[in-house]
Amino acid sequence: MTTDDKRSLVAIILGSKSDWEVMRHTALQLEQLGVTWEGRALSAHRATDALLQYLEGLPGRGVEVIIAAAGGAAHLPGVCAAKSHLPVLGVPMESASLKGMDSLLSIVQMPAGVPVGTLAIGKAGAVNAALLAVAILGGKHPEHRRVYQDFRAKQTAKVTADSVLSL
Ligand code: RP5
Repeated sequence: MTTDDKRSLVAIILGSKSDWEVMRHTALQLEQLGVTWEGRALSAHRATDALLQYLEGLPGRGVEVIIAAAGGAAHLPGVCAAKSHLPVLGVPMESASLKGMDSLLSIVQMPAGVPVGTLAIGKAGAVNAALLAVAILGGKHPEHRRVYQDFRAKQTAKVTADSVLSL
């Protein structure tokens, strides 16, 4: 799960490889919009040192946005935000016992001072994390701004062209 051969603008970090089935939609959406990405599964509690080392190297390699996904006691996005000054977008994974409410509250309830931009639970959050990352990149990169504007305009054109209801 990597396109490390080019400079990656977005890093996708997962709490477990089991999150990839949902979070591959982040990577697919980034690729559809022409944004380079790289991915790692580095649990905040099972691979702490490796995670911290990976986070330290990101700005020097040109990564500009982190997307972090985790489920359950989902502290990974908060740890990423604690250790990096890059913007961190958190995606709560649906969990077996609490359907992702545990993940959502763990990620969204950051105390003031260390922000994590939190998306919806599951696939919608995975896709929107990619779109929000592209919108953030658009502030600095005109080509990504244009691609994002074009994506939104086409989406609007599609739903308005298909807006008539019938029985
Ligand atoms: C979290 O625990 C991961 O982000 C994943 O969503 C969940 C289950 O992980 P596995 O037991 O499948 O590795 O840390």
